[in-house]
Amino acid sequence: MEVIIRDTAEDVGTLAADVFESHIKKGHTLGLATGSTPLALYNELIRRHRESGLSFAGCTAFLLDEYVGLPRTHEQSYYRFIRDNFTSKIDIDDDKVFSPDGLADNPTDAGIAYDSMINEAGGVDIQLLGIGTDGHIGFNEPGSSLTSRTRLKTLHPQTIADNARFFDGDESKVPHHVLTQGLGTISEARHLLLLATGEGKADAVAMTVEGPVAAVCPASVLQFHQHATVICDEAAASKLKLTKYYRYAYDNKPDWQEI
Ligand code: GLP
Repeated sequence: MEVIIRDTAEDVGTLAADVFESHIKKGHTLGLATGSTPLALYNELIRRHRESGLSFAGCTAFLLDEYVGLPRTHEQSYYRFIRDNFTSKIDIDDDKVFSPDGLADNPTDAGIAYDSMINEAGGVDIQLLGIGTDGHIGFNEPGSSLTSRTRLKTLHPQTIADNARFFDGDESKVPHHVLTQGLGTISEARHLLLLATGEGKADAVAMTVEGPVAAVCPASVLQFHQHATVICDEAAASKLKLTKYYRYAYDNKPDWQEI
């Protein structure tokens, strides 16, 4: 795992955009994430699309997760979030942006179908990840099997409290159930790129990077991945022990070695 520490959240977004840009130019399959953390990255990619003609026309995208019970038109559905904040502002074909079906009568079948769609598309080339304060990725809450597939999960009350800010601060409006790519599904992506910003993520980042691999911290599954990158700002890195080494390794990276 490579850990890269940048000064600010904006710097995190810019570096992540550099990583994404090379995949976009190859027409790769992108794994997209919601939450506030990726917005700096999405805004930078939108800017490059508008100002430098970066084209997403050859790309396909798969979302990580979706609330159960929210139609795609609901402004807090993750499909709508990605559309409003990213995909409607670039030249990706709407028909090539996929999300788990939160309205499916049978969520188990919907999860299996979603994994099949990812496989049929040839798998995800780069999977973007944020992280919850409890160490979740996608919506894989603590206790999630490290080999889990796309399936229904019940949100932890902490996640409901964290996400209430998107629902007028009203926890009762936050759906309790979600469909999320499993940790096994996520781990099949060829490159995992986790972004974390702000002091509130410092404990989760420390557990993920320097704690044991354990279902109690789902993001720690990144330690098993052959190509996982964590980019965080100073605040999110503030509880890491080996920061000196991470900075040294990044500063001395051979030119040929990409992120
Ligand atoms: C939600 C999403 C996650 C995201 C997390 C953190 O729970 N399902 O994918 O990483 O929120 O969001 P934020 O970046 O807003 O802190």
